[in-house]
Amino acid sequence: SKLTLSVIKADVGGFVGHSSVHQKLLDRAREYLDANKELLIDFNVLSVGDDIQLIMTHEKGVDSDAIHQLAWDTFKSCTEVAKELKLYGAGQDLLKDTFSGNIKGMGPGAAEMEFEERASEPVLIFMADKTEPGAWNLPLYKMFADPFNTIGLVIDPKMHKGFVFEVLDLKEHKKVYLNSPEDIYDLLVFIGSHGRYCIKSVYTRDGEIVAVSSTQTMNYIAGRYVGKDDPVMIVRTQNGFPAVGEALEPFANPHIVAGWMRGSHNAPLIPVSIKQAMPTRFDGPPRVVAAGYQICNGKLLGPQDMFGDMAFDRARQKGLEIADILRQLGPFEPHRLPLDELEYTSMPMVLEKFEKGFIEE
Ligand code: F6R
Ligand code: MG
Ligand code: MG
Repeated sequence: SKLTLSVIKADVGGFVGHSSVHQKLLDRAREYLDANKELLIDFNVLSVGDDIQLIMTHEKGVDSDAIHQLAWDTFKSCTEVAKELKLYGAGQDLLKDTFSGNIKGMGPGAAEMEFEERASEPVLIFMADKTEPGAWNLPLYKMFADPFNTIGLVIDPKMHKGFVFEVLDLKEHKKVYLNSPEDIYDLLVFIGSHGRYCIKSVYTRDGEIVAVSSTQTMNYIAGRYVGKDDPVMIVRTQNGFPAVGEALEPFANPHIVAGWMRGSHNAPLIPVSIKQAMPTRFDGPPRVVAAGYQICNGKLLGPQDMFGDMAFDRARQKGLEIADILRQLGPFEPHRLPLDELEYTSMPMVLEKFEKGFIEE
Protein backbone atom coordinates (compact mmCIF):
# COMPACT_ATOMS: atom_id res chain seq x y z
CA SER A 1 0.00 0.00 0.00
CA LYS A 2 1.05 3.57 -0.54
CA LEU A 3 2.61 5.83 2.04
CA THR A 4 1.62 9.45 2.62
CA LEU A 5 4.04 12.04 3.98
CA SER A 6 2.26 15.12 5.36
CA VAL A 7 3.98 18.24 6.63
CA ILE A 8 1.47 20.60 8.21
CA LYS A 9 2.58 23.80 9.91
CA ALA A 10 1.14 26.72 11.81
CA ASP A 11 2.17 29.64 13.96
CA VAL A 12 0.01 29.50 17.08
CA GLY A 13 2.07 31.84 19.22
CA GLY A 14 5.64 33.12 19.27
CA PHE A 15 8.35 33.15 21.94
CA VAL A 16 9.62 35.94 22.11
CA GLY A 17 7.54 38.08 19.74
CA HIS A 18 7.52 36.29 16.37
CA SER A 19 10.98 34.72 16.76
CA SER A 20 10.54 31.11 17.89
CA VAL A 21 8.32 28.47 19.53
CA HIS A 22 8.22 27.86 23.29
CA GLN A 23 9.30 24.38 24.40
CA LYS A 24 5.95 23.80 26.13
CA LEU A 25 4.12 24.12 22.79
CA LEU A 26 6.43 21.58 21.19
CA ASP A 27 5.88 19.25 24.15
CA ARG A 28 2.12 19.64 23.80
CA ALA A 29 2.22 18.96 20.06
CA ARG A 30 4.24 15.76 20.66
CA GLU A 31 1.90 14.61 23.45
CA TYR A 32 -1.16 15.28 21.31
CA LEU A 33 0.12 13.39 18.29
CA ASP A 34 1.34 10.58 20.54
CA ALA A 35 -2.12 10.26 22.07
CA ASN A 36 -3.53 9.83 18.55
CA LYS A 37 -0.77 7.72 17.10
CA GLU A 38 -3.15 5.01 15.86
CA LEU A 39 -3.86 7.35 12.92
CA LEU A 40 -0.18 7.61 12.05
CA ILE A 41 2.76 5.39 11.24
CA ASP A 42 5.25 7.89 12.63
CA PHE A 43 5.64 11.57 13.39
CA ASN A 44 8.20 14.24 14.22
CA VAL A 45 7.59 17.72 15.60
CA LEU A 46 10.05 20.49 14.71
CA SER A 47 9.99 24.26 14.81
CA VAL A 48 11.41 26.89 12.50
CA GLY A 49 11.07 30.47 13.68
CA ASP A 50 7.60 30.90 15.18
CA ASP A 51 6.12 27.95 13.25
CA ILE A 52 5.37 24.46 14.58
CA GLN A 53 6.02 21.76 11.98
CA LEU A 54 4.11 18.48 12.19
CA ILE A 55 5.84 15.87 10.05
CA MET A 56 3.65 12.77 9.76
CA THR A 57 3.60 9.50 7.86
CA HIS A 58 0.38 7.52 7.42
CA GLU A 59 -1.69 5.57 4.91
CA LYS A 60 -4.68 7.85 4.54
CA GLY A 61 -3.64 9.71 1.40
CA VAL A 62 -3.31 13.44 0.80
CA ASP A 63 -6.10 15.78 1.92
CA SER A 64 -7.33 13.21 4.43
CA ASP A 65 -10.05 14.58 6.73
CA ALA A 66 -8.73 12.54 9.65
CA ILE A 67 -5.14 13.75 9.30
CA HIS A 68 -6.10 17.39 8.72
CA GLN A 69 -8.45 17.20 11.70
CA LEU A 70 -5.63 15.77 13.83
CA ALA A 71 -3.28 18.60 12.79
CA TRP A 72 -5.98 21.20 13.46
CA ASP A 73 -6.77 19.75 16.88
CA THR A 74 -3.06 19.59 17.72
CA PHE A 75 -2.67 23.28 16.86
CA LYS A 76 -5.82 24.07 18.89
CA SER A 77 -4.37 22.27 21.86
CA CYS A 78 -1.05 24.13 21.48
CA THR A 79 -3.01 27.38 21.30
CA GLU A 80 -4.42 26.68 24.77
CA VAL A 81 -0.87 26.48 26.10
CA ALA A 82 0.12 29.61 24.16
CA LYS A 83 -2.82 31.49 25.71
CA GLU A 84 -1.97 30.35 29.23
CA LEU A 85 1.60 31.57 28.75
CA LYS A 86 0.38 34.74 26.99
CA LEU A 87 2.73 33.96 24.12
CA TYR A 88 2.71 36.44 21.28
CA GLY A 89 -0.04 36.04 18.69
CA ALA A 90 -1.55 32.97 20.38
CA GLY A 91 -3.66 31.09 17.83
CA GLN A 92 -2.73 33.54 15.06
CA ASP A 93 -2.87 31.03 12.18
CA LEU A 94 -6.14 29.34 13.20
CA LEU A 95 -8.38 31.69 11.31
CA LYS A 96 -11.68 29.87 11.65
CA ASP A 97 -13.56 28.75 14.73
CA THR A 98 -14.69 25.41 13.41
CA PHE A 99 -12.81 22.92 11.31
CA SER A 100 -14.38 21.99 7.99
CA GLY A 101 -12.51 18.86 6.89
CA ASN A 102 -9.54 20.33 5.04
CA ILE A 103 -6.92 22.54 6.58
CA LYS A 104 -6.18 24.41 3.33
CA GLY A 105 -7.33 27.98 3.36
CA MET A 106 -7.86 27.94 7.13
CA GLY A 107 -4.48 29.38 8.09
CA PRO A 108 -2.05 26.46 8.49
CA GLY A 109 0.13 25.40 5.53
CA ALA A 110 0.37 21.84 4.19
CA ALA A 111 2.68 19.95 1.83
CA GLU A 112 1.67 16.33 1.28
CA MET A 113 2.56 13.55 -1.11
CA GLU A 114 1.53 9.93 -1.56
CA PHE A 115 3.99 7.44 -3.05
CA GLU A 116 5.22 3.88 -3.09
CA GLU A 117 8.18 3.76 -0.69
CA ARG A 118 11.27 2.84 -2.72
CA ALA A 119 13.93 0.32 -1.69
CA SER A 120 15.56 3.32 -0.05
CA GLU A 121 13.69 6.59 0.40
CA PRO A 122 15.81 9.64 1.27
CA VAL A 123 13.66 12.79 1.57
CA LEU A 124 14.39 16.41 2.41
CA ILE A 125 11.90 18.66 4.12
CA PHE A 126 12.59 22.34 3.58
CA MET A 127 10.95 24.75 6.01
CA ALA A 128 11.22 28.53 5.81
CA ASP A 129 10.20 31.33 8.16
CA LYS A 130 9.51 35.02 7.38
CA THR A 131 8.80 34.45 3.70
CA GLU A 132 6.19 33.14 1.25
CA PRO A 133 5.73 30.12 -1.10
CA GLY A 134 7.21 31.98 -4.08
CA ALA A 135 10.54 31.49 -2.29
CA TRP A 136 10.62 27.89 -3.64
CA ASN A 137 10.32 28.80 -7.33
CA LEU A 138 13.97 29.55 -7.97
CA PRO A 139 15.42 26.61 -6.00
CA LEU A 140 12.91 24.16 -7.55
CA TYR A 141 13.79 25.41 -11.01
CA LYS A 142 17.48 24.95 -10.29
CA MET A 143 17.00 21.48 -8.78
CA PHE A 144 14.86 20.08 -11.58
CA ALA A 145 15.65 22.11 -14.69
CA ASP A 146 19.10 23.73 -14.44
CA PRO A 147 22.00 21.53 -15.51
CA PHE A 148 24.45 24.02 -13.98
CA ASN A 149 22.93 23.06 -10.62
CA THR A 150 21.91 19.46 -11.25
CA ILE A 151 24.50 17.58 -13.25
CA GLY A 152 22.26 14.50 -13.09
CA LEU A 153 20.06 16.09 -15.77
CA VAL A 154 23.05 15.79 -18.10
CA ILE A 155 24.83 12.59 -17.10
CA ASP A 156 22.25 10.38 -15.37
CA PRO A 157 20.17 8.48 -17.97
CA LYS A 158 17.35 8.22 -15.37
CA MET A 159 17.03 12.03 -15.18
CA HIS A 160 17.84 12.95 -18.75
CA LYS A 161 14.19 13.12 -19.87
CA GLY A 162 13.53 16.03 -17.52
CA PHE A 163 10.55 16.71 -15.26
CA VAL A 164 7.00 18.11 -15.20
CA PHE A 165 6.19 21.27 -13.23
CA GLU A 166 2.72 21.99 -11.87
CA VAL A 167 2.36 25.78 -11.57
CA LEU A 168 -0.47 27.50 -9.71
CA ASP A 169 -1.86 30.91 -10.57
CA LEU A 170 -2.48 32.02 -6.99
CA LYS A 171 -4.90 34.76 -7.90
CA GLU A 172 -7.00 33.15 -10.63
CA HIS A 173 -7.20 29.77 -8.84
CA LYS A 174 -5.92 27.93 -11.92
CA LYS A 175 -2.99 25.64 -12.69
CA VAL A 176 -0.87 24.61 -15.66
CA TYR A 177 1.59 21.75 -16.34
CA LEU A 178 4.86 22.56 -18.10
CA ASN A 179 7.64 20.21 -19.15
CA SER A 180 11.34 20.74 -18.77
CA PRO A 181 13.50 21.02 -20.77
CA GLU A 182 11.25 21.90 -23.72
CA ASP A 183 8.98 24.46 -22.00
CA ILE A 184 11.54 26.16 -19.76
CA TYR A 185 11.30 29.59 -21.37
CA ASP A 186 7.52 29.53 -20.90
CA LEU A 187 7.92 28.18 -17.38
CA LEU A 188 10.26 31.03 -16.47
CA VAL A 189 7.84 33.68 -17.74
CA PHE A 190 5.44 32.46 -15.07
CA ILE A 191 7.59 31.45 -12.12
CA GLY A 192 9.85 34.51 -12.37
CA SER A 193 6.78 36.31 -10.95
CA HIS A 194 6.91 34.46 -7.68
CA GLY A 195 4.19 36.48 -5.99
CA ARG A 196 1.63 35.33 -8.54
CA TYR A 197 2.74 31.97 -10.01
CA CYS A 198 4.12 29.29 -7.72
CA ILE A 199 5.36 25.78 -8.30
CA LYS A 200 3.05 23.40 -6.47
CA SER A 201 4.72 20.15 -7.40
CA VAL A 202 7.21 18.43 -9.65
CA TYR A 203 6.70 15.00 -11.25
CA THR A 204 8.86 12.69 -13.34
CA ARG A 205 7.87 12.36 -16.98
CA ASP A 206 6.18 9.09 -15.94
CA GLY A 207 3.97 10.90 -13.44
CA GLU A 208 5.77 9.98 -10.22
CA ILE A 209 5.64 12.71 -7.57
CA VAL A 210 9.08 14.05 -6.59
CA ALA A 211 8.50 17.43 -4.93
CA VAL A 212 5.57 19.25 -3.40
CA SER A 213 5.25 22.63 -1.70
CA SER A 214 2.70 24.16 0.64
CA THR A 215 1.68 26.61 -2.08
CA GLN A 216 -2.07 27.09 -2.26
CA THR A 217 -4.16 29.55 -4.16
CA MET A 218 -4.99 32.60 -2.09
CA ASN A 219 -7.94 32.71 0.22
CA TYR A 220 -9.02 35.93 1.79
CA ILE A 221 -9.98 35.26 5.42
CA ALA A 222 -10.09 37.54 8.43
CA GLY A 223 -9.04 40.48 6.30
CA ARG A 224 -5.83 38.98 4.96
CA TYR A 225 -4.59 36.56 2.35
CA VAL A 226 -3.85 33.13 3.76
CA GLY A 227 -1.67 30.45 2.25
CA LYS A 228 1.01 33.06 1.79
CA ASP A 229 3.12 32.53 4.87
CA ASP A 230 6.23 30.63 5.83
CA PRO A 231 6.20 27.80 3.31
CA VAL A 232 7.36 24.19 3.49
CA MET A 233 8.38 21.78 0.75
CA ILE A 234 9.12 18.06 0.47
CA VAL A 235 11.69 16.76 -2.03
CA ARG A 236 12.34 13.04 -2.63
CA THR A 237 15.95 12.47 -3.63
CA GLN A 238 18.43 10.09 -5.28
CA ASN A 239 18.19 7.30 -7.82
CA GLY A 240 16.60 9.17 -10.71
CA PHE A 241 15.58 12.16 -8.58
CA PRO A 242 17.99 14.99 -7.69
CA ALA A 243 20.78 13.81 -5.39
CA VAL A 244 20.61 15.16 -1.83
CA GLY A 245 23.42 17.56 -2.72
CA GLU A 246 21.71 18.67 -5.93
CA ALA A 247 18.55 19.46 -3.97
CA LEU A 248 20.51 21.46 -1.37
CA GLU A 249 22.81 23.25 -3.83
CA PRO A 250 20.39 26.07 -4.91
CA PHE A 251 20.54 27.38 -1.34
CA ALA A 252 24.33 27.79 -1.45
CA ASN A 253 23.73 31.12 -3.15
CA PRO A 254 21.03 33.05 -1.25
CA HIS A 255 18.33 34.45 -3.50
CA ILE A 256 16.01 37.33 -2.69
CA VAL A 257 12.51 36.65 -1.45
CA ALA A 258 9.61 38.64 -0.04
CA GLY A 259 8.96 38.61 3.70
CA TRP A 260 11.18 39.72 6.58
CA MET A 261 9.90 42.55 8.82
CA ARG A 262 6.10 42.81 8.75
CA GLY A 263 6.07 40.52 5.71
CA SER A 264 6.80 43.65 3.71
CA HIS A 265 10.44 43.52 2.62
CA ASN A 266 12.70 41.91 0.07
CA ALA A 267 15.37 39.88 1.77
CA PRO A 268 17.92 37.11 1.26
CA LEU A 269 16.78 33.58 2.13
CA ILE A 270 19.56 32.24 4.37
CA PRO A 271 20.13 28.49 4.82
CA VAL A 272 20.67 27.71 8.52
CA SER A 273 21.02 24.78 10.88
CA ILE A 274 17.96 23.78 12.88
CA LYS A 275 19.51 25.43 15.94
CA GLN A 276 19.87 28.74 14.09
CA ALA A 277 16.25 28.84 13.04
CA MET A 278 15.42 31.76 15.32
CA PRO A 279 15.15 34.95 13.28
CA THR A 280 15.65 38.07 15.40
CA ARG A 281 17.44 40.76 13.33
CA PHE A 282 14.71 43.05 11.99
CA ASP A 283 12.53 39.95 12.62
CA GLY A 284 14.66 37.96 10.20
CA PRO A 285 16.30 37.73 7.81
CA PRO A 286 14.16 34.94 6.32
CA ARG A 287 15.72 31.55 6.73
CA VAL A 288 15.39 28.02 5.53
CA VAL A 289 16.12 24.74 7.28
CA ALA A 290 16.47 21.34 5.61
CA ALA A 291 15.55 18.27 7.66
CA GLY A 292 16.76 15.05 6.05
CA TYR A 293 15.02 11.72 6.66
CA GLN A 294 15.48 8.18 5.47
CA ILE A 295 11.99 6.72 5.45
CA CYS A 296 12.00 3.06 6.46
CA ASN A 297 8.65 1.22 6.27
CA GLY A 298 6.96 4.54 6.98
CA LYS A 299 9.20 5.35 9.95
CA LEU A 300 11.03 8.67 9.90
CA LEU A 301 14.74 8.07 10.51
CA GLY A 302 16.05 11.53 11.29
CA PRO A 303 16.08 14.44 11.17
CA GLN A 304 19.56 15.12 9.90
CA ASP A 305 20.34 18.83 9.97
CA MET A 306 21.36 19.25 6.33
CA PHE A 307 22.29 22.95 6.37
CA GLY A 308 24.43 22.36 9.48
CA ASP A 309 27.28 21.56 7.07
CA MET A 310 30.08 24.16 7.32
CA ALA A 311 30.07 24.26 3.52
CA PHE A 312 26.98 26.50 3.84
CA ASP A 313 28.87 28.99 6.05
CA ARG A 314 29.80 31.11 3.03
CA ALA A 315 26.15 31.22 1.93
CA ARG A 316 25.28 32.51 5.39
CA GLN A 317 27.99 35.18 5.15
CA LYS A 318 26.87 36.21 1.69
CA GLY A 319 23.24 36.30 2.82
CA LEU A 320 24.19 38.59 5.68
CA GLU A 321 26.01 40.92 3.29
CA ILE A 322 22.92 41.10 1.06
CA ALA A 323 20.88 41.79 4.19
CA ASP A 324 23.15 44.72 5.13
CA ILE A 325 22.93 46.19 1.63
CA LEU A 326 19.14 45.97 1.52
CA ARG A 327 18.73 47.30 5.07
CA GLN A 328 20.52 50.53 4.10
CA LEU A 329 17.48 51.38 1.98
CA GLY A 330 15.24 51.46 5.05
CA PRO A 331 11.69 52.27 3.94
CA PHE A 332 12.59 52.58 0.24
CA GLU A 333 11.83 50.08 -2.51
CA PRO A 334 13.19 47.65 -3.58
CA HIS A 335 13.90 46.74 0.06
CA ARG A 336 10.37 47.59 1.15
CA LEU A 337 7.83 45.80 -1.07
CA PRO A 338 5.71 47.72 -3.59
CA LEU A 339 2.48 49.20 -2.23
CA ASP A 340 0.15 46.46 -3.45
CA GLU A 341 2.21 43.70 -1.80
CA LEU A 342 2.58 45.20 1.66
CA GLU A 343 1.21 43.15 4.53
CA TYR A 344 0.76 46.30 6.61
CA THR A 345 -0.18 49.63 5.07
CA SER A 346 -0.85 53.08 6.41
CA MET A 347 -1.56 54.41 2.90
CA PRO A 348 -5.36 54.81 3.23
CA MET A 349 -4.86 56.68 6.50
CA VAL A 350 -2.18 58.94 5.06
CA LEU A 351 -4.14 59.55 1.86
CA GLU A 352 -7.17 60.55 3.89
CA LYS A 353 -5.09 62.93 5.94
CA PHE A 354 -3.87 64.66 2.77
CA GLU A 355 -7.10 64.33 0.84
CA LYS A 356 -7.36 68.09 0.49
CA GLY A 357 -3.59 68.54 0.34
CA PHE A 358 -3.38 67.03 -3.12
CA ILE A 359 -4.10 69.69 -5.74
CA GLU A 360 -4.03 69.61 -9.55
CA GLU A 361 -0.53 70.37 -10.73
C1 F6R B 1 6.84 38.92 9.83
C2 F6R B 1 6.41 38.97 11.22
C3 F6R B 1 6.87 40.09 12.07
C4 F6R B 1 5.71 41.00 12.47
C5 F6R B 1 6.22 42.20 13.29
C6 F6R B 1 5.08 43.08 13.81
O1 F6R B 1 6.22 37.89 9.15
O2 F6R B 1 5.68 38.13 11.69
O3 F6R B 1 7.89 40.82 11.44
O4 F6R B 1 5.04 41.44 11.34
O5 F6R B 1 6.92 41.73 14.43
O6 F6R B 1 4.20 42.27 14.46
P1 F6R B 1 2.88 42.81 15.19
O7 F6R B 1 2.09 43.53 14.13
O8 F6R B 1 2.24 41.54 15.67
O9 F6R B 1 3.36 43.72 16.28
MG1 MG C 1 4.07 34.87 14.49
MG1 MG D 1 6.45 32.32 10.95
